[in-house]
Amino acid sequence: VVETAVQWVVKGARQELEVVIEAPSLLEVTGHPGQLQQVIMNLVQNAVDAMRDVERRRLEVHVHEIGGEVRVRVRDAGPGIAESDLVRVFDPFFTTKPVGQGTGLGLSISYGIVAEHGGDLVAANHPDGGAVFTVTLPTEAV
Ligand SMILES: Nc1ncnc2c1ncn2[C@@H]1O[C@H](COP(=O)(O)OP(=O)(O)OP(=O)(O)O)[C@@H](O)[C@H]1O
Ligand SMILES: [Mg+2]
Repeated sequence: VVETAVQWVVKGARQELEVVIEAPSLLEVTGHPGQLQQVIMNLVQNAVDAMRDVERRRLEVHVHEIGGEVRVRVRDAGPGIAESDLVRVFDPFFTTKPVGQGTGLGLSISYGIVAEHGGDLVAANHPDGGAVFTVTLPTEAV
């Protein structure tokens, strides 16, 4: 399965925000394109939601290939994630969004999809502010 990682991401970004995408034009990852796209769109949507109340909305998506792995990093300029919530964001139904706005399933489902592809999904805060989500997937050939 051949996928352009950039395409996954650009589809999700549609609002007044600064988007910086850094990625090789072509990357191959073995897996289900629709599902992997869903993961990226989830992360982008979360980032956009998190930046609702900030002035400088900046979304950075970096895609790198390192030692047989593709790493997709989605960074936002929102408030970040409370230290105590970092371990809980992947729990099913964990949400800080108002009732009716978030199911709290996005990251839980994303985590499952990434795991099924033999990868990993990690949440962290950037030292300069904002949340950073890193998806790691094996580049293993078909
Ligand atoms: N980029 C982010 N910055 C700050 N908090 C975040 C970020 N991404 C996720 N979170 C926190 O993690 C919670 C869980 O995220 P998740 O995607 O699982 O559910 P949701 O976004 O609340 O609901 P849904 O994805 O169903 O719309 C969010 O409610 C939010 O508190
Ligand atoms: Mg979400």
